[in-house]
Amino acid sequence: MLYQVVIPAAGQGKRMKAGINKQLIKLRHQPVIIHTLKVFEQDDWCQGIVMVVNEAEREQFQELLEKFQIKKVLSIVSGGAERQHSVYNGLKAVKESDFVLIHDGARPFITIEKIHELVKEANEHGAAVPAVPMKDTVKRVSQGFVDETVERSSLWAIQTPQAFRVSLILEAHERARQEGYVGTDDASLVERIGKKVKVIEGNYRNIKLTTPDDLLFAEAILSVKEER
Ligand code: CTP
Ligand code: MG
Repeated sequence: MLYQVVIPAAGQGKRMKAGINKQLIKLRHQPVIIHTLKVFEQDDWCQGIVMVVNEAEREQFQELLEKFQIKKVLSIVSGGAERQHSVYNGLKAVKESDFVLIHDGARPFITIEKIHELVKEANEHGAAVPAVPMKDTVKRVSQGFVDETVERSSLWAIQTPQAFRVSLILEAHERARQEGYVGTDDASLVERIGKKVKVIEGNYRNIKLTTPDDLLFAEAILSVKEER
């Protein structure tokens, strides 16, 4: 079952405080984005990759693709102000594919097994996302005091890749644009037009590198991988 993948990598990485785009930080001699891209490069179901980058970093990314021999990148498009705008630009570059995955460039530990599970679910339901049950208790807080404790058993932390039928996610993004809605993930745009999103159990190791501590977790995940 074939798909194309849009990889947004055009953020500023403010919370990482690294002074460079976090996708260019090296983990075991390879930039984060290369770890991410290699998974798709090695997946036979992946027909092509659309990367979304900042214009100012385009050349840097292009050089990395050559250096690490990533061959499936079909196009590199420019990012927008918000992640959603970046993804939209990427989606417009997806051609001749029934299914598309949208995957954060800063999430290098996705597995081919999960990707295939998600594509199959997207084939059945139109949209599918990976998620893990929340470990911490979650409370709504305002001005330093608790408003309420949210019931945890139904709370899941949502990850990427998110898998969609191309026509459905394009419609969802177009509608959000027309209506001025900006969400924090792509599935939320599908939800708001009344369509169902299937949730599958993800993996706690599929972290998004967001703050400096995540680099420590990433090193630990990589050492376990190498032991195998
Ligand atoms: N992203 C993007 N375009 C944007 C914002 C984010 O392509 N305008 C990408 C990031 O590069 C990242 C993914 O979307 O791979 C998830 O976003 P996030 O983790 O929030 O990354 P940043 O926005 O770069 O980080 P921060 O919010 O800390 O600035
Ligand atoms: Mg961000």
